[in-house]
Amino acid sequence: MTITAVDPADTGMQWRVEQLTCSLGAEVFGVDLGEVSRSEEQFAELSALLLRHKVLFFRDQDITRGEHVALAERFGPLEDHPVAGSDPEHPGLVRIYKDLDSPAEHYENAFHCDATWRVIPPMGSVLRCVESPPVGGDTIWVNMVEAYNKLPAAVREQIAGLRARHSIEASFGANLPIEQRHAMHERFPDAEHPVVRTHPETGEQVLFVNAFTTHFVNYHTPANVRFGADYAPGAGDLLRYLISQAAIPEYQVRWRWTPNSVAIWDNRSTQHYAVQDYWPAVRKMERAGIVGTPTF
Ligand code: SIN
Repeated sequence: MTITAVDPADTGMQWRVEQLTCSLGAEVFGVDLGEVSRSEEQFAELSALLLRHKVLFFRDQDITRGEHVALAERFGPLEDHPVAGSDPEHPGLVRIYKDLDSPAEHYENAFHCDATWRVIPPMGSVLRCVESPPVGGDTIWVNMVEAYNKLPAAVREQIAGLRARHSIEASFGANLPIEQRHAMHERFPDAEHPVVRTHPETGEQVLFVNAFTTHFVNYHTPANVRFGADYAPGAGDLLRYLISQAAIPEYQVRWRWTPNSVAIWDNRSTQHYAVQDYWPAVRKMERAGIVGTPTF
C-alpha cells in the first residue's frame, strides 16, 4: 500500500509536498522549476526537501534546456558521460534516448548509483522526461540509508571499514573491443569507495555498493578468512547479498513518467533502476549530473 502524507514542513513557498512511500520520495506541487533556477530562496527550500526525501518529483515542468541546466548548476558543476552523449548546445545535459533502433538490452537494467566508477561520484541528478512510452518505462529509486540501517547488526559490524572497487570497464566497457575497453580503463581506472559511506551533509550511513561494484579490496584478513577457501566465495557472497538489498520493495519508490515530469535525486543516498519494459516504444530523457565530493 502506498501511504500518501503531507510533509509537515511548512515550505513557506506555498508548495505542497506529498510523501510517496514510507521510505523515500515526495511529489512537490505548485513549483515552477524555471523560477527555482533563478531564485536562491526557492533553491534553498528545494535543497532542504531533497535532503529530507532523497528524491523529489514534479509534473508539468515546461522548462527550457537552459533552465534545466541552470537549476542543476545551482547544486554544483555538471559532468558529461563518457558513453551517453550530451546535448551539443548544453554540455552536461546527457541524452538518454531509446527508440526502435536501440538495442533491446542496455545499461539501465540494474540498481545503481550513477557513476560510482568515478573517484568522485556525482552528488545527484536532475532528470527530465522529454518523451515517455504510452505505458512502462518507470524508474525506481531506493533509500540506501534505510537499506543500511535495516541490515542485521552482525552484518553492519562485518562491513564497517570494508572498501570496494567500482568499474566502468566491467560495465559500460564489457561490450567494447578489447583495445577500446583497455583505453576506457586507462581513462577511468577502477575507483575505490567505502562499503558504508557517510553522507557529507546529513551524516547518515549509506550502503554504498551497487551494479558497478566488482570486489572488496580489504576483505582478505584474518578476521574474515581462516583458510583461503573462506575468501572465495565468502567475499563474493557477502557482496552479492549487499548489492541485492536495493531490490527490497520496502526501501523503494516507483515513478511513472509523463512528458515534462522531472525527478531530482540525491545520488549519495539512493540507487535507481530504469525499467526497460517498453521497447520498441520511444523513451527520451535528459539528465544533468552534478559533480560530487570525495567518498573517503
Ligand atoms: C539513469 O540511470 O540515470 C537514468 C534513469 C532513467 O532513465 O530513468
